Amino acid sequence: MQFLQGLPEADILAISEYLNSQAVSGEQRYITGCAGCHGNDASGGFVKKNLRGKRNINLNQRMMQFLRCLPRSDTNEIGAFLSGLAKKTKAAAEKKAAPKKTK
Ligand code: HEC
Repeated sequence: MQFLQGLPEADILAISEYLNSQAVSGEQRYITGCAGCHGNDASGGFVKKNLRGKRNINLNQRMMQFLRCLPRSDTNEIGAFLSGLAKKTKAAAEKKAAPKKTK
């Protein structure tokens, strides 16, 4: 971000205030906080657990404790986003529906 170094501090503050005033969706919160481990579509990534359809988010589990600082309102929004996802991914459903190969 070196190209921003010439900006006066007041401008940087104004930009960050503007960005912070924008609404953030549960999906956006999921992508920034969770997708790195749980996959972009929440069906599993580094962690092989399907979070699709989950509403109650408990960040006290060992690997996620660093995220406990998230306010309850954030995890509720993430839970609302996840619970709205169908349990299976579209890709998984299509794979299942595809006819089996015969040898
Ligand atoms: C550093 C990697 C990492 C990040 C980031 C992370 N998790 Fe996890 N999460 C894990 C691991 C590992 C487990 C499995 C814990 C276990 O089985 O003991 C887990 C388990 C879970 C579970 C329980 C799943 C089940 O069926 O038992 C939920 C729900 C969950 N995570 C939600 C989230 C949410 C929401 C976020 C973002 C706010 C998040 N996680 C961010 C690593 C992560």
